[in-house]
Amino acid sequence: MCGIVGYVGYKPVVDILIDGLEQLEYRGYDSSGIAVKFDADLKVYKAEGKLQNLKDVLKQHSKEISAAKTGIGHIRWATHGAPTVLNAHPHTCSCGNLVIVHNGIIENFKELREKLTKQGCVFKTQTDTEIAAHLIASIYARVKDLTEAVRLAIKELDGAFALCVMHNDYKDTLVVTKRNAPLLVGIGEDEFFVASDVPAVIKHTKKAMYLNDNQIAALTPKSMQLIDENGNVLEPKIEVLPWEPVALSKMGYKHFMLKEINEQPDVIRNILFGKLHTPLEPIVLDEVKLDRKTLKDLNRIQIIACGTSLHAAMAGKYLIESFCDIAVDVEASSEYIYRKTVTDSKTLVIGVSQSGETADTITAVKQSKAKGSHILIITNRPDSAMAREADSLIPVNAGIEVSVAATKSYLAQLISFYLLAFYMAEIKGSTDKALLQSMKTELMLLPQKIEQILASADKIKECAKLYSNTRDFIYIARGINLATALEGALKLKEISYINATGYAAGELKHGPIAMLDETMPVLSILIKGCVYEKLLSNSEEAKARNARMIALTNSKDEKLNDLFDFIIRIPEIQEIFSPVVAIVPLQLLAYYIAEFLGKDVDQPRNLAKSVTVE
Ligand code: F6R
Repeated sequence: MCGIVGYVGYKPVVDILIDGLEQLEYRGYDSSGIAVKFDADLKVYKAEGKLQNLKDVLKQHSKEISAAKTGIGHIRWATHGAPTVLNAHPHTCSCGNLVIVHNGIIENFKELREKLTKQGCVFKTQTDTEIAAHLIASIYARVKDLTEAVRLAIKELDGAFALCVMHNDYKDTLVVTKRNAPLLVGIGEDEFFVASDVPAVIKHTKKAMYLNDNQIAALTPKSMQLIDENGNVLEPKIEVLPWEPVALSKMGYKHFMLKEINEQPDVIRNILFGKLHTPLEPIVLDEVKLDRKTLKDLNRIQIIACGTSLHAAMAGKYLIESFCDIAVDVEASSEYIYRKTVTDSKTLVIGVSQSGETADTITAVKQSKAKGSHILIITNRPDSAMAREADSLIPVNAGIEVSVAATKSYLAQLISFYLLAFYMAEIKGSTDKALLQSMKTELMLLPQKIEQILASADKIKECAKLYSNTRDFIYIARGINLATALEGALKLKEISYINATGYAAGELKHGPIAMLDETMPVLSILIKGCVYEKLLSNSEEAKARNARMIALTNSKDEKLNDLFDFIIRIPEIQEIFSPVVAIVPLQLLAYYIAEFLGKDVDQPRNLAKSVTVE
């Protein structure tokens, strides 16, 4: 949440900053701002709302800022203080000579604010960031060295931060640092690019350095000096970024979300490539370091994740318990970290995260690592902070996901769980070989089944049109598809703001059924298998309360026509694989409803793609 950018070099800085912020807009879009440095002057420009508003502000100043070659920028997801122009970054110290942009939360900001106020600092905003500006400036007044001032200041800060700082005394210098928040420095010829994430630098350079916690880098067009928190000079570790700029285009689709939904067959092929050659060969997971003995010694698995990743984890539990004979618990990371967990060296802890940046999941992973658990990370970002904590890694290779609502990364996480469950079952010998072979055959057929659904998107559009005028929406399912119901409901609520909820169908009669009447759509995920008849009865119960019944089904049963007002059919599929196929129509349903309602599909209100605060 929040994105920061910076540039020092020989090119006009404004376009570089704005382009960088555009690439980071998925991290927040409440307000934005830049600060640029001229020979003897620092200028700050800010705007409330979307980045376009900042662009409009800058148009009025294009002449005066065109010469600037050094600058910093910020896109905000508000934590402390409303998303106003005043609270937008960059923030300045009292005299205005120091400017700063910040991603993260400074937890001890109240104490520091009191202390600095007593020292005479005058605060203009409600943000935690402003204290960092005053703190660094007050130390700078004493030590007269910006890098040293930043180094000493971060010793006083608690919490998470990535900071990029400029000072009027320096012609062309940026000082950057970080703790528990991402930051990288892109390295060009006589120029450096600072950013919270790769998309903001990739079109300029593929060479980059990731800062470790508490390291500080001073950048000028011709030099980079890296030090640790004790002032020791370090050798920068330069990496080549495995990214291509083309991934960020909508490729003709109206929204990134629709493009990403349509990419899903290839996402599956991509993740299976190299891991599942033929059904007769064992699954290959190169970066998973679980041998037979470690697996035999495990007494439990805990899967921790948030949001959509948590739903993938729920399906993961079902799969691992079905094939591997081991107890699995699934928990939201935010709940896991503030209680006593029974976690030790016999626990395998699996962290699931698209971004690899989610603060709650990172904390949960670090806590269990400290207790001696083996850490397996399933992520779309093998270059992320979470991946760096991993003993074992499954990179899901879904490609960059721009739409705030996760779609293709969910599918890639699901597929990772199938691969992991089959992989562990093969090592442990816990499932019959012939059964595993038939499972692997079915896994390889999934991309074609999703293609069939994508080809019938018009039917789902029709359903969206019929039901888009509703205030509430209920999704019901049982067994492995409870995850599908929860994820389908989450998709709808986050992009259309309809109050959508997923329920275990058997729970309906224990309370939620009271809400049903002729205005309430109930979507039943009715997949042939061990809970089909039960779910049919639950759907009858809802119908008896006059609910507007919709089925998502692979059944051709004629009697469904009497029970349901609308039927979305999916291809023939075994129940165990149905979550992969059944979620796709629900993603499309959410997309088309949000489209009909004229919502901002790719950037829904109040959300951000990376949730880097607890
Ligand atoms: C919903 C969505 C969020 C994320 C959640 C966790 O569409 O994207 O619920 O799933 O914020 O994020 P990651 O997976 O990056 O840890």
